Amino acid sequence: MSQNTFVSEIEKYVGQEVQLKGWVYNFRSSGKIFFLQFRDGTGRIQIVYSAANLPVEQWEKLNSLRIESSVVINGTVKAESRAPSGFELDGTSVEIVQLAPEDYPIGKKEHGPDFLLDNRHLWLRSEKQWAIQRVRDTIIRATFDYFKETGFVKFDTPILTPNACEGTTELFEMDYFDVGKAYLAQSGQLYLEAGVMSLGRCFDFGPVFRAEKSKTRRHLTEFWMMDAEAAFVEHDENIKIQEELVCRIVKDVLEKNQHELKVLERDVEALKKIQAPFIRMTHAEAVIKLHELGSDISEMDDLGGDDETILTKQYDRPIFVEKYPAVVKAFYMKRDSTDPSRALCADLLAPEGYGEIIGGSQREDDYETLLARIKEHNLPVEAFQWYLDLRKYGSVPHSGFGFGLERLVTWICGLEHVRESIPFPRLINRITP
Ligand code: 4AD
Ligand code: MG
Repeated sequence: MSQNTFVSEIEKYVGQEVQLKGWVYNFRSSGKIFFLQFRDGTGRIQIVYSAANLPVEQWEKLNSLRIESSVVINGTVKAESRAPSGFELDGTSVEIVQLAPEDYPIGKKEHGPDFLLDNRHLWLRSEKQWAIQRVRDTIIRATFDYFKETGFVKFDTPILTPNACEGTTELFEMDYFDVGKAYLAQSGQLYLEAGVMSLGRCFDFGPVFRAEKSKTRRHLTEFWMMDAEAAFVEHDENIKIQEELVCRIVKDVLEKNQHELKVLERDVEALKKIQAPFIRMTHAEAVIKLHELGSDISEMDDLGGDDETILTKQYDRPIFVEKYPAVVKAFYMKRDSTDPSRALCADLLAPEGYGEIIGGSQREDDYETLLARIKEHNLPVEAFQWYLDLRKYGSVPHSGFGFGLERLVTWICGLEHVRESIPFPRLINRITP
């Protein structure tokens, strides 16, 4: 008999007896036949027990089971065309590891979002949540693979920092021993810029924090960001890298998560259209388009969430909106030499109404210009002296971008709200469980 087997590889064992370890997600009994719906983390399968073939003690054990009890089962694998996985087990035995009480909170009835979020530690076991976490894993791995293949070095940036990266209004602040104040990182970008002057091309991937008072379907207070940065890369090449990375991620999910996408009822045809070249328009062009679509956005405004929604519903490919007014963007962005009121930046907006998934730009690489920007933004020059040093010793043109992992997961899985894309979401009104 084969032990340490998993549902995901069950097709290798047709005709053989195997042992599986996992949980009961449902069951029903006809009195003579017991249908056990079983999951082990890698997948789900039905195990069919017949009273006629089981010792009485085993039959009674089966009939004492409750939802989410943990079990070790033995059975013989057979092909079953009617089963979703194509396989089924003829059960030969069951051992109960732990019998769950009858009151498993998450039932088959509809639950509201607050109830589900309060029970997030259990909700994660349901099939849709399982599928989301598997897609998330593929996105993370595809990102690492892409960067490995293109020569980007993983460079770990700090989470405790002495200054802001993306604007002082969204900082989580704390007392830091005798030093004074420290802040949770909003992005590792500034440190990556130091990294690329040593390593050429770098990326980080870790949790970041934003004390944003936004209560929208797109905002978390803690989320995972991947920042990438490259020396001697300018605006256009920066965009090319992003396009390649996003295509690669979607391709890997389409290849590796067919079953998960089906569980999520994701329209895979929409994902298959994610091919280069993406749509590219300037902020000025986007504003004109948005006016046609009924938005009252002003020429020098940032795009709001609603603007992103209506704009991205017009296209079936992602959109780079480039050259935003410099006044609405971060201090470190290089200006467009043909129109210095604009930043050499681009946001990548996902289609189907999803909106911003990436923010990126070419960086200001001139010492005096950057110093002036830091002062204009009322940032403490002292805290940024190390960052200015990067422009003093061997400055080079360089660019980078950052994606929000949860925004990618939400879009690729076709979710309504970013809160389901991360195991334990942190929102302005929620920090439990
Ligand atoms: O556009 P942002 O603010 O850009 C930066 O932080 C740059 N320093 C990145 C860089 O150039 N290296 O954030 C990057 C991405 C956004 O495009 C969005 O996908 C995500 O992070 N993001 C959020 N995701 C969830 N909740 C929030 N509150 C988010 N804020 C930004
Ligand atoms: Mg942004």
